[in-house]
Amino acid sequence: MLAIQEYVSSPAFRLSAAMLPPTPWHRPFRAQDLPALDITKPLRADELTSNRSLMLHRILLNIYEQSMLFLPRRRLGEEDMAAFRTFYDTQSVSLGQTLRANIERAAFSCLDEEVKVTGQWDWERLEDYLVGVIKRYESEPCGLTARIEAQNDPPRALKYLLIQQASDFLSEASAMARAMLGNYGPVQSELMKVFIDEYGYGVHSKKHSTLFESCCTSVGLSPEAHTYYFHYLPSSLALTNYFHYICSNKNLWFRYIGALYYTEASIPHFNQAMSKSLKGAFGRKVDTAYFDEHVHIDKHHRRMVLDTIIKPTIEMHGPQVIPEILIGFESFRLLQGRADQDYLEQVSFIESLEQQRGQGLHADAASYESAGDAPLTHTEPAGELSFAHIHDDDELFSVEKGALEFFAGLDPIVLEAGSSIVIPAGRLHGTRVLGDTCTYRVQKIRRRK
Ligand SMILES: [Fe+2]
Ligand SMILES: [Fe+2]
Ligand SMILES: [Fe+2]
Repeated sequence: MLAIQEYVSSPAFRLSAAMLPPTPWHRPFRAQDLPALDITKPLRADELTSNRSLMLHRILLNIYEQSMLFLPRRRLGEEDMAAFRTFYDTQSVSLGQTLRANIERAAFSCLDEEVKVTGQWDWERLEDYLVGVIKRYESEPCGLTARIEAQNDPPRALKYLLIQQASDFLSEASAMARAMLGNYGPVQSELMKVFIDEYGYGVHSKKHSTLFESCCTSVGLSPEAHTYYFHYLPSSLALTNYFHYICSNKNLWFRYIGALYYTEASIPHFNQAMSKSLKGAFGRKVDTAYFDEHVHIDKHHRRMVLDTIIKPTIEMHGPQVIPEILIGFESFRLLQGRADQDYLEQVSFIESLEQQRGQGLHADAASYESAGDAPLTHTEPAGELSFAHIHDDDELFSVEKGALEFFAGLDPIVLEAGSSIVIPAGRLHGTRVLGDTCTYRVQKIRRRK
């Protein structure tokens, strides 16, 4: 059996009937997506929102997280213990590690094509450039939160954003912990200071992930890690995985400190806007301490990263490490920009479904034509869950008999016989059959010219 096939055959990846997995160790994987896991072919830059990207990044997250401990805060039953043992099974962990390098190459090598550094660099020029990028970013209002505030339902869009951030923030700085090991001089101790802040100096209520949990709880979201695994967009997973990738592979150390600077330096501006949006949408009930804390601490962290980590690194090891620092900075910035775009497109899709719900759920089929293939008709039994996935073509989705729930965001819309919608390429979705059986038809389409 192919190693990747063997890896996903672990019961940890089995599809359950539950939309939201009951433990952080359930990682549903659809057998029909196995071909998408071809790890020999790198993702192209324009494939970040494809199903293949989703599958590669889900599996990569699992591989990284098998070396991180997740425990739900409750008494563990027999089924929990079985899931716990399965996820952390030694054979599965070591198989994942043998696959890791190939999946990382498939997931991230396109960045090497896109991000090129040329010219002569020294510390002064680097500092000017890095600080200049952040100053320009801060000179304009935050684009992402402005777009959220312009939505029909900003609370819904904000909850969906919190879910995207959860894949990272509920285990905040865990990737960074991988960078702490070894013996690399005074910079190691400086990095430790940033790390200790992330972990709240050992005070659990101040740990950044705890602050994020409180924010989730305050808006009615579960604070448990990976409750919303179904809803993670591939670009959100890519952001989380990128840090694990550059912290796990020591040859990428210099990229790590560049990416660390981008994240620490861009956070205050974004988090200030996020805090304001959350308060505007949810009023006094929302706990924004997570975002407010970062406005303060990351202004401090970004100076620390520049003055006590990047500058001494260049002084100690020489300017030839600068291109790598820049590659880390630019790669993460690029991924962040694409993740924002992916999130906004998904939120628009969710919003358009809500509008169609109000208009009776009849797709505007006349604006489309068949993209060639004959339509496929499927009949699924009661309760059947089609776990979240993505299509590479636009798809006309019509229910012929029975009914199902269609999930793009947190709240499903119900599609009954006679209903039809267009699922745009690149948009995450899943379904669950209501009642007895459901028969639906899917047709690849394209917009008429
Ligand atoms: Fe933090
Ligand atoms: Fe920080
Ligand atoms: Fe689908």
